[in-house]
Amino acid sequence: MGQMTGDMKMGIVLNGGTIVTAADMYQADVRIEGEIIVAIGYDIKQPGDQVICVDGCFLFPGGIDPHTHFDLPMGTFSTSDDFLTGSKAAVLGGTTTILDFATQFKGETLKVALENWHAKADGKCYVDYGFHMAITDWNETIAREMTELVHQEGVPSFKLYMAYKNILQVDDGALLQALHQAGECGALVCVHCENGDVIDNLVIDARAQGKTAPCYHPLTRPPEAEAEATHRAIALAQIAEAPLYVVHLTCSGALQAVSQAKLKGLEVYAETCPQYLLLDDSCYSAEGFNGAKYVISPPLRPVQHQAELWNGLKTGILETVATDHCSFNYKGQKDLGVNDFSKIPNGAPGVETRLGLLFTYGVMTGKLTLNEFVALTSTNAAKLFGLFPRKGTIAPGSDADLVVWDPRISSVVRAETLHQQVDYTPYEGFRQVGQATSVFIRGKHVVQDGKLLVEEPTGEYLSRKPFLKRKVGEDV
Ligand code: URP
Ligand code: ZN
Ligand code: ZN
Repeated sequence: MGQMTGDMKMGIVLNGGTIVTAADMYQADVRIEGEIIVAIGYDIKQPGDQVICVDGCFLFPGGIDPHTHFDLPMGTFSTSDDFLTGSKAAVLGGTTTILDFATQFKGETLKVALENWHAKADGKCYVDYGFHMAITDWNETIAREMTELVHQEGVPSFKLYMAYKNILQVDDGALLQALHQAGECGALVCVHCENGDVIDNLVIDARAQGKTAPCYHPLTRPPEAEAEATHRAIALAQIAEAPLYVVHLTCSGALQAVSQAKLKGLEVYAETCPQYLLLDDSCYSAEGFNGAKYVISPPLRPVQHQAELWNGLKTGILETVATDHCSFNYKGQKDLGVNDFSKIPNGAPGVETRLGLLFTYGVMTGKLTLNEFVALTSTNAAKLFGLFPRKGTIAPGSDADLVVWDPRISSVVRAETLHQQVDYTPYEGFRQVGQATSVFIRGKHVVQDGKLLVEEPTGEYLSRKPFLKRKVGEDV
């Protein structure tokens, strides 16, 4: 255990907690100096240090949510959460780093898209942040720009969409070329796996038959359309000899595709989200137009898929639990689709509730160990997205991003008490065990007693390392 000698500055000692990393769980004190963890052990207090008692609490590495959409334009409006409100909600829920999808719109260069996202986030983010770049308009210069983003801008991950035809979707040729380029330049391609052409046909048919209610959203985006696209993305990644990260995986068929790819030794990773673990397609039958609150893509699935996803988390088929936080108000945004489900903006909020829900419904039910919880909510994302060991663990030399989690506090999720700027939560009434009572980001005490301590956002842009292809036999 590291102990500093020589000139000591004033530090903070978190005393009496149980440290949990992806690998270990043990009782010890943590000493922070400046932005960094400098010592872990006993009797590490130095003269002048502030000692904070965290008896009875777990110390987790700050949560990393690798999938958010803050301030995302959608036609004539944007998501209801911007970086200010979304990141405030994130930190109060125990997330200290987010990776947001900077999005290239048609005709834009990646450079312009990146500048746009920096402008949205700069000085407005309470948590540290990085960007994936979503490529929606492939052409010859974009390949060169990918390399520049990886090596000059600290953006080593890209997203491509196989769905949202005529808006975000790219064709297989573009996906193949982007995968190839990523493999060459040290990047990881994240793919939204749904067959957009098939979905487009099913939506046109449904509308022609006067099927306009939210319940037609999942029926026009069946699990087979996700499983097929997942198989295809894996095949393209294999051909391009590139690693692949499947975002927001929801169903058994897609999980099997990832599992088979892993068994073949392919470098394929996957993420799911709390909504797919905890909610099912019966939500679309909610009274009146309330089903619109759950219009997300891919959609919620029949309940039997949930057990398979939990199993995927347990067995390592899935590496991360992200949120895909993409918030639209029920009133004024979701209701634009009151006469046509295909006009309901796709997305739902979740950045504030991720840790609490996974702790309650994963750890407290015995489905996940505490180490697995930390791996899924922090460590694996840090490793995959070029942040480890600076982020994602509790160790001397790592950023002092720490969550003091008190498992003795219970609450009920209510939209009115959350901080997300959106008029509903999909988890209304869900019980939550535990709370992020204190949160530190790079040594700064930003949440105390579950309340924000800082007045101004102090989150910083994270320039991330290129993706290192796995060596034979190595896990994430
Ligand atoms: O419905 C969703 N998930 N909206 C956000 C965009 C995406 O596909 O990730
Ligand atoms: Zn997506
Ligand atoms: Zn998303």
